[in-house]
Amino acid sequence: MEDFTAVILAAGEGVRMKSDLPKVLHKVCGLPILTHVINAARCAGANKIIVVVGKDAEKIKETYANEDVEFVVQKEQKGTGHALMQAQSAVKGSTHFVVLYGDMPMVTAESIGKMACFHREQNANATVMTAKVADPTGYGRIIREGSRVLDIREHKDANRQEMAINEINAGFYCFDTSLIFSALSKVGNNNRQGEYYLTDVVKILNQEGKKVVAFELENPEELHGINNRRQLAEVQSIMQKKIIDGWMDEGVTFINPGTCMVDCEVKIGRDTTIYPGVILEGKTRIGEGCTIIGPSRIKDTVIGDCCEISMSQIDECILEEGVKIGPYSNLRPGCKLSSKVKVGDFVELKNSKVGEGTKIPHLSYVGDAVLGKHINIGAGVIFVNYDGYKKHQTVVQDNAFIGCNSNLVAPVTIKAGSYVAAGSTITKEVPEDSLAIARARQENKIGWAATRNNNLKGGVEVDGK
Ligand code: UD1
Ligand code: CA
Repeated sequence: MEDFTAVILAAGEGVRMKSDLPKVLHKVCGLPILTHVINAARCAGANKIIVVVGKDAEKIKETYANEDVEFVVQKEQKGTGHALMQAQSAVKGSTHFVVLYGDMPMVTAESIGKMACFHREQNANATVMTAKVADPTGYGRIIREGSRVLDIREHKDANRQEMAINEINAGFYCFDTSLIFSALSKVGNNNRQGEYYLTDVVKILNQEGKKVVAFELENPEELHGINNRRQLAEVQSIMQKKIIDGWMDEGVTFINPGTCMVDCEVKIGRDTTIYPGVILEGKTRIGEGCTIIGPSRIKDTVIGDCCEISMSQIDECILEEGVKIGPYSNLRPGCKLSSKVKVGDFVELKNSKVGEGTKIPHLSYVGDAVLGKHINIGAGVIFVNYDGYKKHQTVVQDNAFIGCNSNLVAPVTIKAGSYVAAGSTITKEVPEDSLAIARARQENKIGWAATRNNNLKGGVEVDGK
């Protein structure tokens, strides 16, 4: 593997995104655009990563505060050449370095690595990644002589002949550190955009008798840059397809892959079946042999083998094997469900532990609770966890049975093996193996209805009938 420094240019303003969020922080398949570029560089062997940032410096630095990334600020956006100049002292000590553009998240580690390798093998002073495309509009054109690159002409500055060239500048380079900055200092801004173009170093290096070569990209898909929301959606859909195709190759069934979303850090076990309309986000891990029926949204959740999820939302939870969820459950952050738990329709769960084999089949709210094993929670049971100021915990021990439509007012404990009668409002501890009834006793008034009907018959007639 190659060993190099990578400089990522990300100081452009991204005006065409029309956004308050810096362009490179917009997400594609769950990660910011810039993260894709950083990951590709790191994966290819970059031992030091320098990002050139502009007006949005603070927000971008914050995002990467805990990562091994160095930042350099380009105060004014005077072009890609000027941007790279700002990294001069940061790249000191490396013999050669790679330059990437921060708005091109499709670049792969493989291509970066191959380019760096090619640069060394060719004994080149500069290597430019190029690609042949059907429509070169907007890109810099490669002016070649054999394997040597003589110049790069920006679209806006190209004459008719140059316009017809279909080999374009991908925007990824490898440079010898000792030569590039003196060449950059000779770059002027006498062009249509009044910018200092990085691409102009190619001509200057040639004039100095240095060797500039082209490394041609096999898959032009990697060229997709993001300048506006349409391109953001386009890249999302290409990358999404790649991710899902990858999981199908690993033995996961997608019944209608085009309707699903799977973030790039998600992992899915073999023989899991994903129905249409499933969204898997963040660092979600799904075990083997699971079935997930959409519409479902599962985020940052770990799911064991052989679970069944149907039409539900799950966020930051842990589910052991054989758990059944839904249809229509909402599992909010902090739930840990042991094996064979069942959470049924219209149940909301929050920050709760549920022991093995416990069932919460219908219409319940369970918040801040610790439930033991093999408990049955009847339909419509509410865990009353909030007193208007604080949240309190409810504990239900193994084998308890909570009757339908009960309220468990926290803090409260229902001890092992006990029963709560349907319709109870429980405010005190229920001892082991006992029955708690906390509701008004039923009274039957015999003949009450007949008396009432007779009385009403003697009443006032309505509408003359
Ligand atoms: C650039 C190339 C073009 C190539 C194309 C590939 C130049 C002059 N042109 O054009 O040959 O075909 O990419 O997509 O390099 N940036 C800064 N500071 C600046 C200006 C830009 O950091 O002052 C950053 C941007 O944030 C962006 C990258 O450099 O990530 C490329 O800039 P952009 O203006 O998008 O260049 P293109 O016109 O796309
Ligand atoms: Ca661009």
